[in-house]
Amino acid sequence: MTQLLEVTDLTKHFPVRSGAFRSGVGVKAVDRVSFSVDAGQTLGLVGESGCGKSTTGRMLMRLLQPTSGSIRLDGREISELRRSDLQEYRRQVQMVFQNPSSSLNPRQSVGSAIAAPLLAQRITPRGGVKAAVRDLMDRVGLRPDHYNRFPHEFSGGQKQRVGIARALALNPRLIICDEPVSALDVSVQAQVINLLEDIQRDTGVAYVFIAHDLSVVKHFAHRVAVMYLGRIMEHGETREVFDTPRHPYTQALLSAVPKADPAADRSGRIRLTGDLPSPTDPPSGCVFRSRCQLRPRLDPERAALCADSVPGGTIACHHHTTGM
Ligand SMILES: Nc1ncnc2c1ncn2[C@@H]1O[C@H](COP(=O)(O)OP(=O)(O)O)[C@@H](O)[C@H]1O
Ligand SMILES: [Mg+2]
Repeated sequence: MTQLLEVTDLTKHFPVRSGAFRSGVGVKAVDRVSFSVDAGQTLGLVGESGCGKSTTGRMLMRLLQPTSGSIRLDGREISELRRSDLQEYRRQVQMVFQNPSSSLNPRQSVGSAIAAPLLAQRITPRGGVKAAVRDLMDRVGLRPDHYNRFPHEFSGGQKQRVGIARALALNPRLIICDEPVSALDVSVQAQVINLLEDIQRDTGVAYVFIAHDLSVVKHFAHRVAVMYLGRIMEHGETREVFDTPRHPYTQALLSAVPKADPAADRSGRIRLTGDLPSPTDPPSGCVFRSRCQLRPRLDPERAALCADSVPGGTIACHHHTTGM
């Protein structure tokens, strides 16, 4: 398997206006995040709202400049790309957004919306732009004769298909999908995910698929990375993470997914206590320690470990590297 994307220690701090907090660095939206994506594969990036998923996606798109860390596509550092190379990068990496309504211009026909990336890159496909757009519409399950219709004439699911067609127009190798189905009805969610899977099978495109709901990525992603407060808590092969979650946070998240058997459901549920800490003032050491269900069961010596910075690797928990 060839590695396509490699992200190392990616960090984004946002300055905050008031001087009310101690550290002075502002919001640590993304903090030393590392993962990789192989060509043609899907990485599911999951975590609660506010944990830094969109910020990560926007840095991958170069819509946001990282505070530090590295993003490599085919081994090339993207922060060092010059203008002309950046144009090429934009051809290879595309994004599908969460809200299909706000990402489409209401006064632009869907045909023109899908044609826009081709025109921006001055690409004229054989057979012309119009034919290429009709072909894209067909590929995403839209009627090509709806070329001149406007977004308000489409349902949420259809609008998201327009967003996918637009992302596909330049034949990218990687698409960042930022919660592309979160705003859609459950019945439509599965259709859109099936479409993304079909497209991957046909084109070999890779996805970073962002979701706040673990069950969305379970049957679809090859690997998953679980984020909490700007950090990756655990990452690995999807089946491994779902079958034997090792980080206490992953265990809690998975136990919150309703199970088919209500009895098993009640007995196996882990309740996270306490509020989500503020990202302007996260706990020192392990960011999960203020809510960790493991800590009360640890002897004081072990619990003290949680106040230290957490080791890297695939599981950000001391009690896995020390053989708990
Ligand atoms: N432009 C910004 N300025 C300041 N803070 C931001 C900005 N964008 C995001 N944040 C903060 O960064 C954190 C992560 O946000 P985000 O990446 O949108 O999370 P997610 O997509 O997982 O819900 C949040 O605390 C959010 O308030
Ligand atoms: Mg988001």
